[in-house]
Amino acid sequence: MHSRGLILGIESSCDETAAAIVERGARTLSSVVASQIATHARYGGVVPELASREHLRAIVPVVRAALAEAQVTFADIDSVAVTSGPGLAGALLVGITYAKALAFAQGLPLIAVNHLEGHIHAVLLEERQKQSATSGLEQQSLHRAQDNNRFAKLEDEPALALVVSGGHTHLYLARPTDGTWNYTLIGRTLDDAAGEAYDKVAKLLGLGYPGGPWIDSLSRFGNPHAVPFAFSQIKTKLHLAGKAPRTKAAKTAPIANLDPHFLFSFSGIKTAVLRYVELHGLREEATSRVPQMLALPGPPKTKEEALALCPQPTLDLIASFQNAVVGDLMKKTFAAAESLGAARILITGGVAANRELRTRFTAEAARRGVSVAFPTHALSTDNAAMIAAAAWPRFLAGEFAASDLSADPSLALGT
Ligand code: KG4
Ligand code: ZN
Repeated sequence: MHSRGLILGIESSCDETAAAIVERGARTLSSVVASQIATHARYGGVVPELASREHLRAIVPVVRAALAEAQVTFADIDSVAVTSGPGLAGALLVGITYAKALAFAQGLPLIAVNHLEGHIHAVLLEERQKQSATSGLEQQSLHRAQDNNRFAKLEDEPALALVVSGGHTHLYLARPTDGTWNYTLIGRTLDDAAGEAYDKVAKLLGLGYPGGPWIDSLSRFGNPHAVPFAFSQIKTKLHLAGKAPRTKAAKTAPIANLDPHFLFSFSGIKTAVLRYVELHGLREEATSRVPQMLALPGPPKTKEEALALCPQPTLDLIASFQNAVVGDLMKKTFAAAESLGAARILITGGVAANRELRTRFTAEAARRGVSVAFPTHALSTDNAAMIAAAAWPRFLAGEFAASDLSADPSLALGT
């Protein structure tokens, strides 16, 4: 039977159980995401044991929903792709075990995908979709168009990718060679990820989990210049010492050879926010809402509730925090792009959903004459369409996973 080039993607690295069907890495037939936010919100962060349990519950219905939405059956699928790391070990194992069993039962090849590569492919997938939409291609001619190198311009250009999420703040140079992509690590955080800082700051201000969307929407009501947060340059000494970064994810990624100008650190600003909150008496008011487990009112549920609960100094603090974080991400990303001569920047991961980040990066890119692309909101946060899209070049290259594939919580991307 004629192959349609359908990949079933499965993602379970953190707190989202996701499955998607993507055709030839270029057309999303379905993308289903079961979020565990409601489960973890009351604890103010992801609880790994609960995440595994929720993945176990959700994996079968989520895959079924993805098949149904795409109007396909297992018999139509050409390969199963699954996130093998980085992420929470128990959470990853649920997706991997399911994908392995399914691939074995259906006699399909299994493809292991790095979660970070998946985030990068979220942008590439949507760029391809946009291109095919604007060129008015019909589904059937998509394959021919690819063969004709219709997407050559897109696919041939190296890009600087900023993966910025709850677990990562990594800069990669992504280069396509003969249809497959390779990645060079250019910069990374030495401690907290940017999204982690958003979540921690929101938590200490008594806002809900995840914190990014709250800070995003409340920051518009504060003065971004009220609190002058500063990011100091990462010390060359630390960089030369090649100390291991303290992040939980991708611990093995080397930093000794990285330019310190492209290294991030977000634990300092979190502490600075905490100090400011204590110094200005904003803490008591905020913490009264945090321990929802103790039957206190809990964080606000709507923006209006949050606005009513946050005094102006808190809103100013929120706006200043976001202004500083986005400024630091911009400074280092554009400096890296300039130093590498990259004319194309991709920004992806949960924090890429941030409105101020998108506006400021877009404006600065236009000023510098470089291009910048973000995934849509749905593909910014964790999903499985990005995993299926990243798997497509591997499928074409016959790069399949061994039957003893296991979870690698610290899996690094590239060299
Ligand atoms: O990519 P993602 O869903 O999961 C990880 O791989 O971590 O990213 C989740 C992170 C959380 O830290 C969340 O607070 C942050 O992305 N986030 C945002 C926004 N939406 C989600 N941060 C800033 N602004 C947003 N609008
Ligand atoms: Zn992610």
